[in-house]
Amino acid sequence: MTIKQLFVAGAGLMGAGIAQTAISCGYEVSLREVDEALVNRGAENIKKRLENLVQKGKLEAGQRDAVVARLHPTTSLEAAGRADFVIEAITENFEAKRDLFKRLDGICRPDVILASNTSSIPITRMAAVTKRPERFIGMHFFNPVPVMPLIELTRGRDTADETVNATLELSRSLGKTPITSLDYPGFIVNRMLVPFVNEAINALMQGLGSREDIDQGAKLGLHHPMGPLELADFVGLDTHLYICNVLYEGLHDPKFAPPALLQQLVDAGHFGRKSGRGFYRYRQDGSRQPD
Ligand code: 3HC
Repeated sequence: MTIKQLFVAGAGLMGAGIAQTAISCGYEVSLREVDEALVNRGAENIKKRLENLVQKGKLEAGQRDAVVARLHPTTSLEAAGRADFVIEAITENFEAKRDLFKRLDGICRPDVILASNTSSIPITRMAAVTKRPERFIGMHFFNPVPVMPLIELTRGRDTADETVNATLELSRSLGKTPITSLDYPGFIVNRMLVPFVNEAINALMQGLGSREDIDQGAKLGLHHPMGPLELADFVGLDTHLYICNVLYEGLHDPKFAPPALLQQLVDAGHFGRKSGRGFYRYRQDGSRQPD
């Protein structure tokens, strides 16, 4: 099957990042949100980021126009009927994804692969609500999508080899390096990331070091681009807590248990960068603000 037209469901941070990457790599993309305001915001964010690349001299203005012309913002789910491949990147909620996939299953051509960008919901569980579990796969991108080189592919219980191969090929054509995982909680990357971030939070809670020293330890000692506390703020503390619970409940291993301090920050509404406060404080534009 030749893939030319993508349908991306969800124009938030991840969906817009996926759409930007795909239009930059020559794909026609229908980017769908539930209402005009959300879809326009997603499309505007993409245009702003492309404009930044033009300002930095990394993209020519003419090329930018050609890239933008491949983006088709829409509120219509029916547009998925024209797609060769679907990527879902809506809110991380099983019921919402289940309802969406049931509808997409009825709209998309039978040969079309349905992929989910979920970081934590079992692929097999979502595949089972469709009549095409062999053409269902996890396609987990990393934030910020245009910059992060990895895509984590997860095969559900009944995912066919042809689906994996087609999605590997698509991932490479998006300029990314794919890895493949079985469908167990957290897949590969969050299985490693969650205990690491939790240990940093527990260390902070015990007063082992300041938040700055813990983050510097990982940045300068392990060559990570962000320290674990900074990264947790970037991912969203509510999101991190949700993923911890998925791993803890799914694998029954205390090393994934959410630290009390993480739960407390989320209870207080301190979700990290997106709410202006987490382990650190942030300005509206996302830059760090001194306490
Ligand atoms: N969207 C698009 N591009 C972005 C961006 C965004 N939101 N944020 C930064 N960039 C680009 C910049 O434009 C810049 O591009 P250039 O090199 O072409 O000029 C480049 O990224 C570097 O940005 P900056 O110079 O502004 O800043 P940094 O050098 O500090 O890099 C960072 C920013 C890329 C975010 C870097 O700190 C980083 O890699 N952090 C770690 C990110 C990470 O680990 N992500 C994975 C999170 S886990 C996840 O997503 C999975 C989920 O399931 C939890």
